[in-house]
Amino acid sequence: MTSEDDAGASTTAGPASGAAPGGGDLERITGAFAGLFGSAPDGVWAAPGRVNLIGEHTDYNEGFVLPFALEHRARVAVALRPNGPARLRAASLQGADPAGTGQAATTGRITEADLGHLVPAAVEPWARYVAGIIWALQQRGHEVPGMDILLDSDVPPGAGLSSSAAIECAVALAVDELLGTGIPRGELVLVCQRAENDFVGAPTGILDQSAALLGTAGHALFLDCRSRDARQVPLDLAQLGLALLVIDTRVAHAHESGGYRDLVAACRRGAATLGVHALRDVGPARLPEAQRLLDPDTFRRVRHIVTENQRVLDTVATLDADGPQAIGPLLNASHASMRDDFGISCDELDAAVDAAQRAGALGARMTGGGFGGSAIALVAAADAATVAESVRGRFATEGYLAPEIFSVRPGPGAHRVDR
Ligand code: GLA
Repeated sequence: MTSEDDAGASTTAGPASGAAPGGGDLERITGAFAGLFGSAPDGVWAAPGRVNLIGEHTDYNEGFVLPFALEHRARVAVALRPNGPARLRAASLQGADPAGTGQAATTGRITEADLGHLVPAAVEPWARYVAGIIWALQQRGHEVPGMDILLDSDVPPGAGLSSSAAIECAVALAVDELLGTGIPRGELVLVCQRAENDFVGAPTGILDQSAALLGTAGHALFLDCRSRDARQVPLDLAQLGLALLVIDTRVAHAHESGGYRDLVAACRRGAATLGVHALRDVGPARLPEAQRLLDPDTFRRVRHIVTENQRVLDTVATLDADGPQAIGPLLNASHASMRDDFGISCDELDAAVDAAQRAGALGARMTGGGFGGSAIALVAAADAATVAESVRGRFATEGYLAPEIFSVRPGPGAHRVDR
C-alpha cells in the first residue's frame, strides 16, 4: 500500500495489513496450512477486493461499471486430495468475519462439507463463498475432488469492498488451475456470480467478481455488463498528484438481506413496465415517459440507473480526454443520485461525502451496494490528510463510530502468488 500515511490513516485490515504480497504473507499462510492440514498446499492464490469508481447498481441492469481492483486481497492456500474422502475442509486465519457475512469465523477452526451433497448450511457462513464455488463448478459438470483450503484475507469485511467476492475469485482461480479446467476469466466471473446468487443466496451482479478477476494494476476496468466487453482505462492518480481515499463508515451491510433484493425487483418492475429487457435499454430521452408510467418510487430508481449509466460513459470519456482530475462533478452527481433517487445511502455515508466535499475533495460518493460500507473521495494528494481529518471531525461531532480512512490505488487482479 502506498500512501495510507498521506491520509494520516490506517487500515482495518488484518495481520497482513495493506502489505504488498510478500514472502512474509506466503510463509504465514503455507506454515499455517501445514500446521492445520498436515502437509504443504499445492499452491497459493490471491484475489483483490475492489472499489467502484462509478456505476452503481447498473451491473444487474446490464449497464456500465468502472471499478478497480484493490491491493487488499484474499489469499487461499489449496491442496487437492484426489485419493482422500470427497470432502471440503476449509479454515480461515481471520476470526473477525472474513466474508462480511455479519458472522465471525473461528480462527483456524476447520469447517467441513460432503462434496457429494453441498448445501450452504453444512459450512460456517464465511465458507459458503468457498463451497459455493465448488458447487457452481459441479453444476457446470466438473468433477471436483476432496480438498483443503486455508484463507488469509486483509480485505476489510462489511466495508462494501467485496471481501466475499475476493474469496470466491481466489478459490475459483485456484481450483480452475489445479484441475486444469482452463475456464477463461470472463467465464470464471459467471461461475463466481452463480455461487453467490444460487448457493449463498445474494442476487448480485458481476461488478465485484469482474474487478477481482479482470482488473489490472494502474487501471480501472470499464465493463459493459451486457456484452461483457471490457477495457482497461489508465488510472495513475499518484503521477497527477491525486489520491483516492476510502472512508469506511463501519456501518455494516449484507446483500443477502432484503434491501438489495428489493432494488433488483424494483428495477425489473421498471423494465417490464417500460417494455424493455433491462433498464440498460432506457435512455435519458425516455425519462418523461417513464415518469408518466411508473409509480414515484419505481421511477426514481429507474432514473438513477438511467442517469448512472450515462455518468459512467461520461466518466470514461472525461478520463480519456482530460484525466481523473476532471471527474469530480460526476462522482458528486452519482452520490446525489444514490441518496435522492435510488435511496441507498445512509446518514454516515452522506456525512462522509459532505465533509469530504467541504474540505476540498474534487469529488466524493458512496461506493458499492449501499446501506453502509464505504465512501470514496478523490483528492489532491496534498489535501488528503486535511480531508481525512475533516471527515473524522464530522463523525466525532455527529457521534458516529470513528471511520477508517485510507488511500488506495488500482492493484493487480487475481493471480497465483507462490510462483
Ligand atoms: C454489490 C453487488 C454488485 C453491485 C453493487 C452495486 O457490490 O455485489 O453486484 O450490484 O453492489 O453497484
